[in-house]
Amino acid sequence: MTDKNPEKIREMFDLIADRYDFINNIISFGTHKRGKKLAVKNLEIPEDLKILDLCTGTGDLAYFLSKRGRVTGLDFSSKMLAVARKKVPDAEFIKGDCTNLPFNNASFDVVTIGFGLRNIENSDRAIEEICRVLKPDGIFMHLDFSNANPFGDFVFEKFVPLLVKIFYGNTVPYKYLVQSKQEYFNPQKLKEKFESHGLKYVTQKFYALNMMCETVMKR
Ligand SMILES: C[S@@+](CC[C@H](N)C(=O)[O-])C[C@H]1O[C@@H](n2cnc3c(N)ncnc32)[C@H](O)[C@@H]1O
Repeated sequence: MTDKNPEKIREMFDLIADRYDFINNIISFGTHKRGKKLAVKNLEIPEDLKILDLCTGTGDLAYFLSKRGRVTGLDFSSKMLAVARKKVPDAEFIKGDCTNLPFNNASFDVVTIGFGLRNIENSDRAIEEICRVLKPDGIFMHLDFSNANPFGDFVFEKFVPLLVKIFYGNTVPYKYLVQSKQEYFNPQKLKEKFESHGLKYVTQKFYALNMMCETVMKR
């Protein structure tokens, strides 16, 4: 199993923060942005709600979400947040840990997390926190890789280390990416995991040649 010690994860994201967007564009051939944009566009929510984007990183999802409502982004990496603040001046960004959210019960209409839950050692605790801060009937959206395109996965796993070596030099964080992606739940298991916390299934949609899966649940 991949080591997901929170302090090590935070240090890793602090280390790669200034090149995170650039490397993402290279290793996904630009598709990650389109997947994130579509995932937000397809969210069936009224305008101007209170939205919490967890593991907001450099603010890609927060950027698209800020066109739909009032966004608070949370992450424990100061360096990732520094990039997000420049990218999405309209949103509020807070440094914090998803397993101990600094918000009152039932304070958000929508909670999102993109490419984040996979990195959290105690993911059950993070889901409990998501349920706690969501209003009754609130919407939870989870976006991450899926295992629905085995050929895409094969190409991804062969090419990512090579591209990262060429464009970044240090391959350690991206070895972690490939490993954590392999170990992650498949979309069906993920849905069951959310249901085991009392969330109700709404929909699952696939993007980027089925390599990304959006799971939408309701509290
Ligand atoms: C792969 S990035 C995803 C960033 C962004 N959501 C995106 O889609 O590009 C994962 C982010 O999760 C953050 N993170 C991981 N564990 C966390 C935790 N327990 N609490 C808060 N942030 C965490 C990391 O600092 C990092 O910025």
